[in-house]
Parts: sequence; C-alpha cells; structure tokens
Amino acid sequence: MREFSQAFLWGAAASAPQTEGHSLENGKSPSTWDKWYKIAPEKFNEGQGPENTSNVYEMYSEDIQRMKELGMNSYRTSIAWTRLLPDGKHVNPEGVAFYSAYFKELKKNGIEPIINLFHFDMPWWLMEKGGWETRESVDAFAFYAKTAFELFGDTVSYWTTFNEPLVHIECGYLYGYHYPAVVDFKRAVQVGYHTLMAHTRAVEEFRNAKVKNGRIGIILNISPAYARSDSKEDLQAKELADLINTKSFLEPAVHGVIPEKLTAVFRTHHLLPKIKVGDKELIRENTVDFIGLNYYQPRRVQAPEHVRVPAQTPADFYLPYDLPNKRINPYRGWEIYPEALYDVAVMMKEEYKNIPWYVSENGMGVAEEERFADENGMIQDDYRILFIQEHLTELHKGITAGSNCFGYHAWTFVDCWSWLNGYRNRYGFYRVDLENHYKRTLKKSGIWYKELIKRNGFDN
Ligand code: BG6
Repeated sequence: MREFSQAFLWGAAASAPQTEGHSLENGKSPSTWDKWYKIAPEKFNEGQGPENTSNVYEMYSEDIQRMKELGMNSYRTSIAWTRLLPDGKHVNPEGVAFYSAYFKELKKNGIEPIINLFHFDMPWWLMEKGGWETRESVDAFAFYAKTAFELFGDTVSYWTTFNEPLVHIECGYLYGYHYPAVVDFKRAVQVGYHTLMAHTRAVEEFRNAKVKNGRIGIILNISPAYARSDSKEDLQAKELADLINTKSFLEPAVHGVIPEKLTAVFRTHHLLPKIKVGDKELIRENTVDFIGLNYYQPRRVQAPEHVRVPAQTPADFYLPYDLPNKRINPYRGWEIYPEALYDVAVMMKEEYKNIPWYVSENGMGVAEEERFADENGMIQDDYRILFIQEHLTELHKGITAGSNCFGYHAWTFVDCWSWLNGYRNRYGFYRVDLENHYKRTLKKSGIWYKELIKRNGFDN
C-alpha cells in the first residue's frame, strides 16, 4: 500500500472568480474579467461569463458539508480583491461578512482553509491605471494583503499571495489570451517584476501582521522542461525554459534572489525591467514558508534554429517539441506525464532546501462529461481516478525519496467556470448542473477520493 503521513493535507482547490458567482453584486466592483466579458462576450466559450459561476457565494455552507463527507481536511480558494476592497481603499462590509463566515465554516468543520490573494483577477479600477505595469500596483496589492491578514488572520493560518503568476503575465502580455491581450516581451517582463515585488511586499506585510501560527507561500505552475535531445542546443533551450518559467519566481520566493543568469539573459536582450532602490533587499528578506505547485503537464522543448537578439518572445529561447506517441488529454490538449511529479519532488528537495511544499493543483478536465453518466446520473469518471492515482504514485515515490511534500489538492471540488473555456472542461468531484440551479451530483471519483482519504493511501 502507498501510505501518506498522518498529517498529510488532502483536499481540493478553486478560486473566487471561478466559483462564487454574483460577480457584480453584493458590493463587488468589476475585475478585468467582468469588464472584458461585457466588451467581448464572444471570446468566452458559449458566451459563459464570470457573472454566474458555481454559486458558491450562496452554497458554500452546503459545499463544506460535502467536503466533510469526503473526509477532506483542507481546501484552497481565493479572496476576490474586488469583493473585499471594491475601490482598493475601503472594505466592503458584505465581502467581509461573506469571507469571514466562509472561512469560519471551513474551520468549524475541520477543513483547513488555504487562502490565496490573487487568481488572475485584476481590479478594473487598477487596470485602468495600467494594472501590473504600474508600480502603483505593488503598493495597492500590499495594502489589500495587509487588510486581508488583519481581517481574517485569526481564522486563516495558511496564506498564499499569487496563483500561477506566470499565467497573467504570459496570457495577458505575451500571447494575447487574457485581457489586456498585449503582445510585448518587455512589458511582460515589467509585469512579472511588479508581480514579484507585490508578492514580496505582501510577505513583508504578513510578517508585520504576526498572524498566529501563520504561514505564507506562493502557488506556482510547474511544467518541468524536458529537452528533445542531449545536444548542447536543446539542453540550453531546456535550461532557458526552466529559468524563465520556474526559477524566475521559485528562486526569489525560496532563496531570496533573482537568478543572475536570468538577469544576464534579459540584459543581453534589452528586456530588463525598471526597478527601485531597496527591491533587492526586500526580496532577500521576505522569503516564503512553503510553496504550492500546480502540476498538469511537462514542457517538451527544442532549440530554435536562430536566436534573435533582442528576443521578441520566449520562442526565441526555446520552442515546443511534439514528442511522438505521448499520452494526451485530448480535451485540454495537455500531455499526461505523471513521472514529472517525481522529478519535481526531487528538485524541491535538492535545489530548494527541501522547503515544505504541496501539490496545490492537479487534475483532468473533460468535455461533455454527461456522456459518462450511468443510469442513476452518476458520472463514471474512471479516467480521472486513473489520472490522480498515477500522479499520487509518483508523488509518493518522491516523498519516499525524502521530499518534504505535505499535501495534495485536486483541481477541483465542484465543477467550476474556467476563464475563456467557461464550463466546457469539467474537473470536479461533483458535477454542477447549470440547467438546474447549480445542483451538485457526486461523481465516481468523489467516492474513490473519499476512500483514499479514509485509508490515507491506496494499493498499487
Ligand atoms: C490552473 C488554474 O492553471 O488550471 C485554474 O489555476 C484553471 O484557474 C486550471 O482553471 C485548469 O485549467 P483550465 O484552463 O482547463 O480551466
């Protein structure tokens, strides 16, 4: 049997904008998602926008009973900045009441809340001033973080600053997927730098707030790079891919320094951001207590034929490599490669001081899941069970090899809304029926997860 430690955190993750719904109500101001949906609804799958997501705003209490029923001992969600501080300065009493009741209810039911501050949801008022491109965003975020720690620090011990900071950088400023859909490497680097400084200042605020038993971390998407071949060029592409996508945030968060090599590469390519005196010290002094890693897929890379100077896009450093015969989740187009989780575990042990870390997201999104419903309406999602079990097998191997991993969170608990993909791909242990007041129905994977948690492991 593959058994995990007694204190292992078992749970699931989600975010405020993807689950709460009521996104323009109860005192909340719009985020860029709300505004973008208004401007360009055709960009969103089947016109499904952020306004009405899985209605957790009203249903959190019954959802928590469902979590308890599965035996989950932890759950991650986020605070919507625009619900807590609609204008960035003054708290919204309805937002405070909602989050306070939500987090207390989790605690009361033995479910440790892990609360994240930013999950791609930039306030519109700040975007109008330049979003993460303006240094003002760093102070605005630090104030928001401080407010959240002061208001909820008595209830919440585990905090994270950002979810996947790379995503709002690359989707918003490199590839044109998310608002403001800018394509500009230099601006992307500046956005990344301000995000890093916002994270750093939030950690500083956290230390000042002296949250009892509090721990703070950051959640990063990890797609470890694998080179097409052992040629010098391909290995260099792999190194640069890891530098830009992994080390850029992991090194400062854990070691307190921006990798020198990254600075050197960006200098050569005239990509260095504007910085402020004292930033270096702030980064050095405000490292994290733990790391969350969202793992879905590896990154296969090969060397580009020519390296342009200055680089216009990360593709000037590394290109995707299409591995023949790879396993793939066809709905998402993502490779399935559980073995990477073992490599990640070893990397955390050997290169990151064996800092406590957890798998903060892992899961399988499948379209038209109703195809798999049995005669009682239960989704027979054996593919999801297999996916999770294979990943847990590799994780367990990593833990046995000494990696300091303290938990596993599946994405997600109840099916949730997903950015431009709306409700196309479903990830939850519970199906959400959009035609029927967001009714939740347990899937087979939920029953399997319950058993796994009860046994604190599985046979294989
Ligand atoms: C993670 C994000 O990257 O992947 C989630 O933190 C997201 O917000 C999840 O929903 C699954 O990706 P997608 O695009 O299929 O929803």
